[in-house]
Amino acid sequence: MKILEVQNLSKIYGKGENQINALKNVSFVMEKGEFAAIVGESGSGKSTLLNCVGGLDTPTAGRVFVDGEDLFQLDERKRTIFRRRNIGFIFQEFHLIEELNVEQNITFPLLLDGRKPEKERVEEILEVLGLADRRKHLPSQLSGGQQQRAAIGRALIMQPTLILADEPTGNLDSASSRDVMELLVRASRRYQQTILMITHNMNLVSDMDRVFRVTDGVLKDMGGYFGADNHSDSLERGNEDEKLS
Ligand SMILES: Nc1ncnc2c1ncn2[C@@H]1O[C@H](COP(=O)(O)OP(=O)(O)O)[C@@H](O)[C@H]1O
Ligand SMILES: [Mg+2]
Repeated sequence: MKILEVQNLSKIYGKGENQINALKNVSFVMEKGEFAAIVGESGSGKSTLLNCVGGLDTPTAGRVFVDGEDLFQLDERKRTIFRRRNIGFIFQEFHLIEELNVEQNITFPLLLDGRKPEKERVEEILEVLGLADRRKHLPSQLSGGQQQRAAIGRALIMQPTLILADEPTGNLDSASSRDVMELLVRASRRYQQTILMITHNMNLVSDMDRVFRVTDGVLKDMGGYFGADNHSDSLERGNEDEKLS
């Protein structure tokens, strides 16, 4: 079952001499429950792609279908509501609300949507994330890894069909990175969520079903990591902390 379909997506920033073709005719499809990585050099267009796919940015041309919904055919208000209910975002900088504790941060999207948190669901998420004993802590009282786990909880609370993550382990040490990856892998398996994740860390890519590489705005499907023998030159596995930039 198709969850994400991207058709001929292009994004141009600026005008005239300053024009930047950040995305060039990008097309791909993701199935329900698939977990894919986006890799590529800094400035290649990865974040632009993710932001357009999630409706945070508007493409210059092309279409994005999420669970059959034509994202940019919706007016802005409807798109915002659709996004809140169907797409979970995780960012490198966590973006937690400093004044709210862990539990309040996780349930915040529900409140925005005018819904009451289900106690069982909140407990399950706190348990899965290993944050049950930190529920009343403020973000400033948490480690980076714990803050990112809270941000993942906030992405999971709406049970979105699609999760978009922009270098979610970029600010974490290697142990916390593995933690976060494990949680995401578990979520994609357990809740059959489709996950698209930008990463620089090639060690994390081995857990994923598929790898996309973005080069200067052009996307290439590299296939499954372990099946990627033909691409071993460009997908070399580094040691623990080695990063591909
Ligand atoms: N808001 C913007 N205005 C103008 N140019 C931008 C904007 N956002 C990104 N760009 C440019 O688009 C290109 C792709 O950027 P980005 O998607 O952030 O790359 P990546 O996430 O792969 O590092 C870069 O050349 C960047 O400078
Ligand atoms: Mg980026």
